[in-house]
Amino acid sequence: MRKTRLAVFASGSGSNYEAIVEACRDGRIDAEVVLLVCDKPGAKVLERAKRYGTESFAFTPKEFESREAYESVIADMLDEREVDFVCLAGYMRIVGKVLLSRYEQRIVNIHPSLLPSFKGAHAIQDAVDYGVKIFGVTTHFVDETLDGGRIIDQGAIVYEGSDIEELTNLIHNIEHKLYVKTINKLISNKL
Ligand code: GRF
Repeated sequence: MRKTRLAVFASGSGSNYEAIVEACRDGRIDAEVVLLVCDKPGAKVLERAKRYGTESFAFTPKEFESREAYESVIADMLDEREVDFVCLAGYMRIVGKVLLSRYEQRIVNIHPSLLPSFKGAHAIQDAVDYGVKIFGVTTHFVDETLDGGRIIDQGAIVYEGSDIEELTNLIHNIEHKLYVKTINKLISNKL
């Protein structure tokens, strides 16, 4: 039987990309990652993709006329590879109309806060600055708003320390498990 085909979009380190690929490899997710899309040509995630043998597409948004222009190229690549679902994993861009319309309800994201609190690029630091004690992670469908869209899963942790690095690692560990859970729901049509 044909395996579900995933694409991962990432801009940074790629620990979530790696967690997804590992889960596909050891059977915790019955799917395969067929494409990594990255908008930062020097990002560490590209090294990880090379190591795992995932085809990657690295692009520089500024070299395109518009978001529509680069999203059309990406959407064509997804179609050609018969991608079923797109998992954003630290992709630091708003997804626009082109991808959203062609992959409606098939694009999900993971964010390191209990949404709708602390949207944006500095969610963990913002939560710490606010004095939060219960931290968390959210997976959600993607729409055209920053970290918006219907929530799928959440995980939480109580942390009262002051070591942001330790907290970030704890949150990443939750992310890696939560994304596997969400992708399994997604590919088995349980959403
Ligand atoms: C994660 O915290 C994710 O929730 C956020 O960006 C970070 C990416 O980390 N959207 P990594 O590149 O997967 O290690």
